[in-house]
Amino acid sequence: MQTIKQYVEANKQRLLDELFALLRFPSVSADPKYKPEVLKTADYVAQKLVDAGAEKVEVCQTAGYPIVYGEKIIDASKPTVLVYGHYDVQPADPLELWKTPPFEPTVRDGKIYARGACDDKGQFYMHVKAFELMMQTNTLPCNIKFMIEGEEEVGSNNLGIFVKENKNRLKADVVLISDTSMISMENPSLETGLRGLSYLEVEVVGPNRDLHSGVYGGAVANPATILAKMIASLHDEDNHVNIPGFYDKVINLTTEERAALNAAPYDEEEYKKDLDIAEVWGEKGYSTLERTGTRPTLEVNGIWGGYIGEGAKTVLPSKANAKISMRLVPNQTSEEITKLFTEHFESIAPASVKVTVTPHHGGEPVVTPTDSIAYKAAQKAIAESFGKEPIPTRGGGSIPIVALFEAELGIKTVLMGFGLDSDALHSPNEKYDIYNYYKGIETIPLFHKYFAELSESK
Ligand code: BES
Ligand code: MN
Ligand code: MN
Repeated sequence: MQTIKQYVEANKQRLLDELFALLRFPSVSADPKYKPEVLKTADYVAQKLVDAGAEKVEVCQTAGYPIVYGEKIIDASKPTVLVYGHYDVQPADPLELWKTPPFEPTVRDGKIYARGACDDKGQFYMHVKAFELMMQTNTLPCNIKFMIEGEEEVGSNNLGIFVKENKNRLKADVVLISDTSMISMENPSLETGLRGLSYLEVEVVGPNRDLHSGVYGGAVANPATILAKMIASLHDEDNHVNIPGFYDKVINLTTEERAALNAAPYDEEEYKKDLDIAEVWGEKGYSTLERTGTRPTLEVNGIWGGYIGEGAKTVLPSKANAKISMRLVPNQTSEEITKLFTEHFESIAPASVKVTVTPHHGGEPVVTPTDSIAYKAAQKAIAESFGKEPIPTRGGGSIPIVALFEAELGIKTVLMGFGLDSDALHSPNEKYDIYNYYKGIETIPLFHKYFAELSESK
Protein backbone atom coordinates (compact mmCIF):
# COMPACT_ATOMS: atom_id res chain seq x y z
CA MET A 1 0.00 0.00 0.00
CA GLN A 2 1.16 3.50 -0.80
CA THR A 3 2.27 5.36 2.29
CA ILE A 4 1.42 8.98 3.01
CA LYS A 5 4.88 10.16 2.06
CA GLN A 6 4.88 8.16 -1.15
CA TYR A 7 1.55 9.64 -2.19
CA VAL A 8 2.73 13.19 -1.58
CA GLU A 9 5.99 12.50 -3.41
CA ALA A 10 4.23 10.97 -6.39
CA ASN A 11 1.81 13.90 -6.68
CA LYS A 12 4.13 16.70 -5.63
CA GLN A 13 3.83 18.94 -8.65
CA ARG A 14 0.08 18.58 -9.06
CA LEU A 15 -0.54 19.35 -5.37
CA LEU A 16 1.36 22.58 -5.86
CA ASP A 17 -0.21 23.47 -9.22
CA GLU A 18 -3.71 23.16 -7.78
CA LEU A 19 -2.87 25.44 -4.88
CA PHE A 20 -1.42 27.95 -7.33
CA ALA A 21 -4.66 27.89 -9.33
CA LEU A 22 -6.57 28.61 -6.12
CA LEU A 23 -4.20 31.46 -5.22
CA ARG A 24 -4.71 33.12 -8.61
CA PHE A 25 -8.32 33.98 -7.72
CA PRO A 26 -8.34 37.45 -6.13
CA SER A 27 -11.00 36.47 -3.60
CA VAL A 28 -10.91 39.68 -1.56
CA SER A 29 -14.12 39.69 0.48
CA ALA A 30 -13.75 43.26 1.74
CA ASP A 31 -13.86 44.91 -1.68
CA PRO A 32 -17.10 44.57 -3.74
CA LYS A 33 -15.07 45.01 -6.92
CA TYR A 34 -13.89 41.42 -6.56
CA LYS A 35 -17.35 39.89 -6.19
CA PRO A 36 -17.28 37.84 -9.43
CA GLU A 37 -13.84 36.48 -8.49
CA VAL A 38 -14.91 35.56 -4.98
CA LEU A 39 -17.88 33.65 -6.40
CA LYS A 40 -15.63 31.84 -8.90
CA THR A 41 -13.34 30.84 -6.02
CA ALA A 42 -16.25 29.18 -4.22
CA ASP A 43 -17.04 27.18 -7.37
CA TYR A 44 -13.41 26.14 -7.73
CA VAL A 45 -13.29 24.94 -4.12
CA ALA A 46 -16.54 22.99 -4.60
CA GLN A 47 -15.16 21.32 -7.74
CA LYS A 48 -11.97 20.38 -5.93
CA LEU A 49 -13.97 18.78 -3.13
CA VAL A 50 -15.90 16.75 -5.70
CA ASP A 51 -12.64 15.73 -7.42
CA ALA A 52 -11.17 14.65 -4.10
CA GLY A 53 -14.14 12.37 -3.46
CA ALA A 54 -16.57 14.42 -1.39
CA GLU A 55 -20.29 13.88 -1.65
CA LYS A 56 -23.28 16.23 -1.27
CA VAL A 57 -21.02 19.09 -2.31
CA GLU A 58 -22.95 22.32 -2.36
CA VAL A 59 -22.18 26.00 -2.84
CA CYS A 60 -24.57 27.24 -0.18
CA GLN A 61 -25.88 30.75 -0.80
CA THR A 62 -26.04 33.23 2.06
CA ALA A 63 -26.88 36.91 2.26
CA GLY A 64 -23.17 37.44 1.55
CA TYR A 65 -20.60 35.12 0.00
CA PRO A 66 -21.41 31.41 -0.25
CA ILE A 67 -20.25 28.68 2.08
CA VAL A 68 -18.86 25.57 0.38
CA TYR A 69 -19.99 22.33 1.94
CA GLY A 70 -19.02 18.74 1.23
CA GLU A 71 -18.86 15.47 3.15
CA LYS A 72 -17.86 11.85 3.08
CA ILE A 73 -19.72 9.62 5.47
CA ILE A 74 -18.13 6.20 5.57
CA ASP A 75 -19.97 4.78 8.56
CA ALA A 76 -22.51 6.51 10.78
CA SER A 77 -21.09 4.75 13.82
CA LYS A 78 -17.65 6.30 13.30
CA PRO A 79 -16.65 9.72 14.61
CA THR A 80 -17.00 12.79 12.40
CA VAL A 81 -14.48 15.59 11.85
CA LEU A 82 -15.74 18.96 10.62
CA VAL A 83 -13.02 20.84 8.74
CA TYR A 84 -13.45 24.61 8.66
CA GLY A 85 -11.48 27.07 6.55
CA HIS A 86 -11.93 30.23 4.52
CA TYR A 87 -11.37 30.87 0.81
CA ASP A 88 -11.57 34.66 1.10
CA VAL A 89 -8.45 36.75 1.60
CA GLN A 90 -7.46 40.17 2.88
CA PRO A 91 -7.01 43.05 0.42
CA ALA A 92 -3.51 43.06 -1.10
CA ASP A 93 -2.85 46.79 -0.64
CA PRO A 94 -0.45 48.50 -0.62
CA LEU A 95 0.32 46.85 -3.96
CA GLU A 96 3.58 48.69 -4.56
CA LEU A 97 5.18 46.90 -1.61
CA TRP A 98 4.78 43.46 -3.19
CA LYS A 99 7.94 42.10 -4.83
CA THR A 100 5.78 39.97 -7.17
CA PRO A 101 2.05 40.36 -7.90
CA PRO A 102 -0.17 39.16 -5.02
CA PHE A 103 -2.39 37.03 -7.23
CA GLU A 104 0.38 35.51 -9.31
CA PRO A 105 1.93 32.98 -6.90
CA THR A 106 5.70 32.99 -7.22
CA VAL A 107 8.23 30.71 -5.59
CA ARG A 108 11.34 32.27 -4.11
CA ASP A 109 13.68 30.32 -1.89
CA GLY A 110 11.19 27.49 -1.38
CA LYS A 111 8.38 29.81 -0.35
CA ILE A 112 5.13 30.57 -2.17
CA TYR A 113 4.47 34.31 -2.28
CA ALA A 114 0.81 35.26 -2.78
CA ARG A 115 -2.08 36.81 -0.91
CA GLY A 116 -3.79 33.95 0.91
CA ALA A 117 -0.76 31.64 0.56
CA CYS A 118 -0.94 30.98 4.29
CA ASP A 119 -4.18 32.70 5.37
CA ASP A 120 -6.03 30.56 4.61
CA LYS A 121 -5.93 29.07 1.11
CA GLY A 122 -2.62 27.26 1.55
CA GLN A 123 -3.79 25.91 4.88
CA PHE A 124 -7.36 24.81 4.18
CA TYR A 125 -6.33 23.32 0.84
CA MET A 126 -3.99 20.94 2.68
CA HIS A 127 -7.16 19.41 4.15
CA VAL A 128 -8.73 18.95 0.73
CA LYS A 129 -5.57 17.24 -0.49
CA ALA A 130 -5.14 15.16 2.66
CA PHE A 131 -8.73 14.02 2.15
CA GLU A 132 -7.93 13.11 -1.46
CA LEU A 133 -4.92 11.17 -0.21
CA MET A 134 -7.01 9.21 2.28
CA MET A 135 -9.63 8.47 -0.39
CA GLN A 136 -7.04 7.38 -2.94
CA THR A 137 -5.14 5.18 -0.51
CA ASN A 138 -8.30 3.81 1.09
CA THR A 139 -7.33 5.06 4.52
CA LEU A 140 -10.10 7.46 5.51
CA PRO A 141 -10.75 6.23 9.06
CA CYS A 142 -13.69 8.45 10.04
CA ASN A 143 -16.42 10.63 8.57
CA ILE A 144 -15.40 14.02 7.32
CA LYS A 145 -17.31 17.21 6.60
CA PHE A 146 -15.99 20.39 5.00
CA MET A 147 -17.26 23.88 5.54
CA ILE A 148 -15.20 26.50 3.72
CA GLU A 149 -16.52 30.03 3.99
CA GLY A 150 -15.91 33.25 2.08
CA GLU A 151 -16.42 35.97 4.67
CA GLU A 152 -13.95 35.22 7.46
CA GLU A 153 -11.83 38.28 6.76
CA VAL A 154 -14.87 40.55 7.06
CA GLY A 155 -16.30 39.12 10.25
CA SER A 156 -18.25 36.00 9.13
CA ASN A 157 -21.53 37.89 9.38
CA ASN A 158 -23.66 35.27 7.67
CA LEU A 159 -22.02 32.20 9.10
CA GLY A 160 -23.96 32.30 12.37
CA ILE A 161 -27.25 32.04 10.52
CA PHE A 162 -25.93 29.20 8.37
CA VAL A 163 -24.73 27.28 11.42
CA LYS A 164 -28.08 27.77 13.20
CA GLU A 165 -30.00 26.60 10.12
CA ASN A 166 -27.77 23.60 9.43
CA LYS A 167 -27.23 22.09 12.85
CA ASN A 168 -27.95 18.59 11.65
CA ARG A 169 -25.82 18.76 8.56
CA LEU A 170 -22.88 20.13 10.57
CA LYS A 171 -23.14 17.56 13.35
CA ALA A 172 -19.63 16.41 14.23
CA ASP A 173 -17.43 15.31 17.11
CA VAL A 174 -14.76 17.92 16.59
CA VAL A 175 -13.97 20.94 14.45
CA LEU A 176 -10.52 20.89 12.88
CA ILE A 177 -9.03 24.17 11.67
CA SER A 178 -5.70 25.04 10.09
CA ASP A 179 -5.73 28.84 10.17
CA THR A 180 -3.24 29.62 12.94
CA SER A 181 0.53 29.61 13.40
CA MET A 182 3.23 27.40 14.82
CA ILE A 183 6.24 28.73 16.71
CA SER A 184 8.56 27.30 14.05
CA MET A 185 9.12 24.09 12.14
CA GLU A 186 11.76 23.13 14.73
CA ASN A 187 9.34 23.96 17.55
CA PRO A 188 5.95 22.69 16.41
CA SER A 189 3.07 23.98 18.52
CA LEU A 190 -0.69 23.86 18.85
CA GLU A 191 -2.68 26.97 19.65
CA THR A 192 -5.07 26.44 22.53
CA GLY A 193 -6.88 29.73 22.48
CA LEU A 194 -7.90 32.63 20.29
CA ARG A 195 -8.75 36.16 21.25
CA GLY A 196 -12.10 37.76 20.59
CA LEU A 197 -12.58 41.03 18.81
CA SER A 198 -14.55 44.21 19.04
CA TYR A 199 -14.05 46.46 16.02
CA LEU A 200 -15.45 49.94 15.67
CA GLU A 201 -15.05 53.26 13.96
CA VAL A 202 -15.10 56.67 15.60
CA GLU A 203 -15.76 60.08 14.14
CA VAL A 204 -15.01 63.43 15.74
CA VAL A 205 -16.77 66.38 14.13
CA GLY A 206 -15.96 70.00 14.82
CA PRO A 207 -16.99 73.00 12.68
CA ASN A 208 -19.44 72.49 9.80
CA ARG A 209 -16.69 72.94 7.17
CA ASP A 210 -12.92 72.84 6.76
CA LEU A 211 -11.58 76.21 7.92
CA HIS A 212 -8.61 78.48 7.17
CA SER A 213 -6.20 77.47 9.94
CA GLY A 214 -4.92 81.04 10.26
CA VAL A 215 -8.27 82.74 10.39
CA TYR A 216 -9.89 80.23 12.78
CA GLY A 217 -7.00 78.17 14.21
CA GLY A 218 -6.63 78.55 17.97
CA ALA A 219 -10.24 79.60 18.44
CA VAL A 220 -12.09 76.48 17.22
CA ALA A 221 -11.43 72.90 18.38
CA ASN A 222 -9.43 70.95 15.81
CA PRO A 223 -11.05 67.48 15.51
CA ALA A 224 -7.72 65.90 14.55
CA THR A 225 -6.06 67.23 17.72
CA ILE A 226 -9.03 66.25 19.87
CA LEU A 227 -9.14 62.75 18.36
CA ALA A 228 -5.41 62.30 18.93
CA LYS A 229 -5.80 63.34 22.58
CA MET A 230 -8.79 61.08 23.12
CA ILE A 231 -6.98 58.12 21.58
CA ALA A 232 -3.82 58.81 23.56
CA SER A 233 -5.85 58.71 26.77
CA LEU A 234 -7.05 55.16 26.03
CA HIS A 235 -3.83 53.74 27.51
CA ASP A 236 -2.43 54.76 30.87
CA GLU A 237 1.27 55.24 31.63
CA ASP A 238 1.67 51.48 32.19
CA ASN A 239 -0.06 50.73 28.89
CA HIS A 240 -3.14 49.29 30.53
CA VAL A 241 -6.31 49.99 28.60
CA ASN A 242 -7.87 52.97 30.29
CA ILE A 243 -11.56 52.20 29.89
CA PRO A 244 -13.54 51.73 33.11
CA GLY A 245 -14.60 48.10 33.53
CA PHE A 246 -12.43 46.88 30.64
CA TYR A 247 -10.62 44.24 32.74
CA ASP A 248 -13.52 43.35 35.04
CA LYS A 249 -14.37 40.03 33.34
CA VAL A 250 -10.82 39.01 32.44
CA ILE A 251 -9.90 35.62 33.85
CA ASN A 252 -6.36 35.90 35.07
CA LEU A 253 -4.11 32.95 34.45
CA THR A 254 -2.70 31.04 37.39
CA THR A 255 1.01 31.32 38.15
CA GLU A 256 1.45 27.80 36.76
CA GLU A 257 -0.38 28.62 33.55
CA ARG A 258 1.70 31.74 33.07
CA ALA A 259 4.91 29.83 33.66
CA ALA A 260 3.87 27.13 31.18
CA LEU A 261 3.11 29.67 28.46
CA ASN A 262 6.31 31.58 29.10
CA ALA A 263 8.31 28.37 28.78
CA ALA A 264 7.63 28.36 25.03
CA PRO A 265 10.68 29.27 22.96
CA TYR A 266 10.77 32.99 22.28
CA ASP A 267 13.77 35.09 21.41
CA GLU A 268 13.16 38.75 22.08
CA GLU A 269 16.26 39.85 20.21
CA GLU A 270 15.11 37.94 17.11
CA TYR A 271 11.62 39.36 17.52
CA LYS A 272 12.90 42.92 17.61
CA LYS A 273 15.29 42.33 14.75
CA ASP A 274 12.57 40.84 12.56
CA LEU A 275 10.38 43.92 13.07
CA ASP A 276 13.24 46.41 13.09
CA ILE A 277 12.18 47.91 16.42
CA ALA A 278 14.46 49.01 19.24
CA GLU A 279 12.14 47.96 22.05
CA VAL A 280 8.98 45.95 22.56
CA TRP A 281 5.98 47.69 24.03
CA GLY A 282 2.98 46.67 26.08
CA GLU A 283 1.09 46.23 29.30
CA LYS A 284 3.38 46.47 32.29
CA GLY A 285 3.93 43.24 34.17
CA TYR A 286 3.44 40.88 31.24
CA SER A 287 5.77 39.20 28.76
CA THR A 288 5.37 39.51 25.02
CA LEU A 289 3.85 36.02 24.79
CA GLU A 290 1.34 36.95 27.48
CA ARG A 291 0.57 40.31 25.92
CA THR A 292 -0.37 38.74 22.60
CA GLY A 293 -1.88 35.50 23.85
CA THR A 294 -3.59 36.11 27.15
CA ARG A 295 -4.22 39.83 27.62
CA PRO A 296 -6.84 42.08 26.05
CA THR A 297 -5.55 44.99 23.99
CA LEU A 298 -6.67 48.09 22.13
CA GLU A 299 -5.23 49.16 18.79
CA VAL A 300 -5.76 51.99 16.34
CA ASN A 301 -5.97 50.35 12.91
CA GLY A 302 -6.21 53.55 10.94
CA ILE A 303 -6.53 57.24 11.58
CA TRP A 304 -7.28 60.05 9.15
CA GLY A 305 -8.61 63.53 8.73
CA GLY A 306 -7.64 66.83 7.13
CA TYR A 307 -5.24 67.37 4.28
CA ILE A 308 -2.97 64.45 3.37
CA GLY A 309 -2.19 65.32 -0.27
CA GLU A 310 1.03 66.66 -1.80
CA GLY A 311 2.63 69.71 -0.29
CA ALA A 312 1.00 71.84 2.39
CA LYS A 313 -2.51 73.15 2.76
CA THR A 314 -3.31 75.33 5.76
CA VAL A 315 -6.57 73.90 6.98
CA LEU A 316 -8.39 73.15 10.18
CA PRO A 317 -10.31 69.97 9.29
CA SER A 318 -13.98 69.71 10.01
CA LYS A 319 -13.68 66.09 11.12
CA ALA A 320 -11.31 63.27 11.96
CA ASN A 321 -11.81 59.51 12.09
CA ALA A 322 -10.21 56.34 13.34
CA LYS A 323 -10.79 52.60 13.18
CA ILE A 324 -10.18 51.00 16.54
CA SER A 325 -10.17 47.35 17.55
CA MET A 326 -9.92 45.59 20.84
CA ARG A 327 -8.72 41.99 21.22
CA LEU A 328 -10.59 40.17 23.94
CA VAL A 329 -9.87 37.26 26.26
CA PRO A 330 -12.18 35.04 28.34
CA ASN A 331 -14.66 36.09 29.78
CA GLN A 332 -14.94 39.43 28.06
CA THR A 333 -17.69 39.59 25.47
CA SER A 334 -17.65 41.59 22.29
CA GLU A 335 -21.02 43.20 22.99
CA GLU A 336 -20.11 44.29 26.49
CA ILE A 337 -16.73 45.69 25.53
CA THR A 338 -18.22 47.57 22.58
CA LYS A 339 -20.70 49.14 24.99
CA LEU A 340 -18.02 50.05 27.53
CA PHE A 341 -15.86 51.62 24.84
CA THR A 342 -18.74 53.61 23.35
CA GLU A 343 -19.88 54.99 26.70
CA HIS A 344 -16.35 55.90 27.69
CA PHE A 345 -15.39 57.45 24.37
CA GLU A 346 -18.51 59.60 24.32
CA SER A 347 -17.93 60.63 27.93
CA ILE A 348 -14.40 61.92 27.30
CA ALA A 349 -15.36 64.06 24.31
CA PRO A 350 -15.14 67.79 25.00
CA ALA A 351 -18.24 69.89 24.30
CA SER A 352 -16.42 71.57 21.40
CA VAL A 353 -16.87 68.48 19.18
CA LYS A 354 -19.48 65.82 18.39
CA VAL A 355 -18.44 62.18 18.62
CA THR A 356 -20.03 59.10 17.07
CA VAL A 357 -18.99 55.50 17.54
CA THR A 358 -20.10 52.92 14.97
CA PRO A 359 -19.55 49.23 15.73
CA HIS A 360 -18.31 46.99 12.90
CA HIS A 361 -17.94 43.33 13.76
CA GLY A 362 -17.01 41.25 16.72
CA GLY A 363 -16.15 37.78 17.85
CA GLU A 364 -15.83 35.98 21.15
CA PRO A 365 -12.61 34.68 22.70
CA VAL A 366 -12.06 30.96 23.22
CA VAL A 367 -9.81 28.57 25.01
CA THR A 368 -9.74 25.10 23.48
CA PRO A 369 -9.41 21.95 25.61
CA THR A 370 -6.07 20.17 25.90
CA ASP A 371 -7.45 17.04 27.57
CA SER A 372 -9.73 15.94 24.73
CA ILE A 373 -9.31 12.96 22.43
CA ALA A 374 -9.07 15.33 19.48
CA TYR A 375 -6.29 17.39 21.06
CA LYS A 376 -4.41 14.21 21.89
CA ALA A 377 -4.84 13.04 18.30
CA ALA A 378 -3.36 16.33 17.07
CA GLN A 379 -0.48 15.98 19.54
CA LYS A 380 0.27 12.45 18.33
CA ALA A 381 -0.01 13.43 14.68
CA ILE A 382 2.43 16.30 15.08
CA ALA A 383 4.81 14.34 17.27
CA GLU A 384 4.97 11.60 14.64
CA SER A 385 5.33 13.87 11.66
CA PHE A 386 7.69 16.46 13.19
CA GLY A 387 9.53 14.11 15.52
CA LYS A 388 8.80 16.46 18.40
CA GLU A 389 5.93 16.99 20.85
CA PRO A 390 3.95 20.13 20.06
CA ILE A 391 4.10 23.01 22.53
CA PRO A 392 0.75 24.48 23.59
CA THR A 393 0.52 28.23 22.89
CA ARG A 394 -2.13 30.95 22.93
CA GLY A 395 -2.77 32.72 19.66
CA GLY A 396 -3.31 36.43 19.43
CA GLY A 397 -5.55 36.38 16.38
CA SER A 398 -9.29 35.79 16.15
CA ILE A 399 -11.46 33.24 14.37
CA PRO A 400 -14.95 34.17 15.53
CA ILE A 401 -16.54 30.96 14.29
CA VAL A 402 -14.74 28.88 16.93
CA ALA A 403 -16.81 30.30 19.79
CA LEU A 404 -19.91 30.06 17.62
CA PHE A 405 -19.42 26.36 16.89
CA GLU A 406 -19.16 25.78 20.59
CA ALA A 407 -22.21 27.87 21.48
CA GLU A 408 -24.48 26.66 18.68
CA LEU A 409 -23.36 23.09 18.06
CA GLY A 410 -21.60 22.27 21.33
CA ILE A 411 -18.51 21.20 19.38
CA LYS A 412 -14.97 22.00 20.49
CA THR A 413 -12.20 22.91 18.11
CA VAL A 414 -8.64 21.79 17.51
CA LEU A 415 -6.44 24.52 16.04
CA MET A 416 -3.84 22.66 14.03
CA GLY A 417 -2.18 25.49 12.16
CA PHE A 418 0.95 25.14 10.06
CA GLY A 419 1.63 28.81 9.37
CA LEU A 420 4.35 30.96 10.87
CA ASP A 421 3.99 34.46 12.31
CA SER A 422 6.66 35.45 9.78
CA ASP A 423 4.37 34.42 6.92
CA ALA A 424 3.23 38.06 6.71
CA LEU A 425 -0.49 37.40 7.03
CA HIS A 426 -2.47 40.50 6.02
CA SER A 427 0.83 42.18 5.03
CA PRO A 428 2.53 42.64 1.66
CA ASN A 429 4.50 39.61 0.45
CA GLU A 430 2.48 37.03 2.34
CA LYS A 431 4.07 33.62 1.95
CA TYR A 432 3.79 29.97 2.82
CA ASP A 433 6.69 27.55 2.75
CA ILE A 434 6.24 24.70 0.29
CA TYR A 435 7.70 22.54 3.03
CA ASN A 436 4.89 23.49 5.41
CA TYR A 437 2.28 22.79 2.74
CA TYR A 438 3.49 19.23 2.17
CA LYS A 439 4.10 18.74 5.88
CA GLY A 440 0.50 19.68 6.56
CA ILE A 441 -0.80 17.27 3.92
CA GLU A 442 1.26 14.53 5.57
CA THR A 443 0.23 15.36 9.14
CA ILE A 444 -3.54 15.73 8.65
CA PRO A 445 -4.20 12.05 7.76
CA LEU A 446 -2.39 11.12 10.98
CA PHE A 447 -4.80 13.33 12.93
CA HIS A 448 -7.75 11.47 11.43
CA LYS A 449 -6.09 8.14 12.09
CA TYR A 450 -5.40 8.85 15.76
CA PHE A 451 -8.73 10.57 16.29
CA ALA A 452 -10.54 7.48 14.99
CA GLU A 453 -8.32 5.14 17.00
CA LEU A 454 -8.58 7.05 20.26
CA SER A 455 -12.35 7.48 19.85
CA GLU A 456 -12.72 3.74 19.43
CA SER A 457 -10.77 2.84 22.53
CA LYS A 458 -12.59 5.45 24.62
N1 BES B 1 -6.26 33.29 10.35
C1 BES B 1 -6.51 34.55 10.96
C2 BES B 1 -6.49 34.50 12.47
C3 BES B 1 -5.21 34.07 13.11
C4 BES B 1 -3.98 34.32 12.55
C5 BES B 1 -5.26 33.40 14.30
C6 BES B 1 -2.81 33.90 13.17
C7 BES B 1 -4.12 33.00 14.95
C8 BES B 1 -2.87 33.24 14.36
C9 BES B 1 -7.87 35.05 10.46
O1 BES B 1 -8.00 34.92 9.07
C10 BES B 1 -7.98 36.52 10.75
O2 BES B 1 -7.25 37.28 10.21
N2 BES B 1 -8.95 36.89 11.60
C11 BES B 1 -9.22 38.27 11.86
C12 BES B 1 -10.56 38.42 12.52
C13 BES B 1 -11.70 38.70 11.60
C14 BES B 1 -12.95 38.92 12.38
C15 BES B 1 -11.46 39.83 10.65
C16 BES B 1 -8.20 38.83 12.82
O3 BES B 1 -7.69 38.11 13.69
O4 BES B 1 -7.94 40.02 12.71
MN1 MN C 1 -7.44 33.08 8.45
MN1 MN D 1 -6.84 36.63 8.17
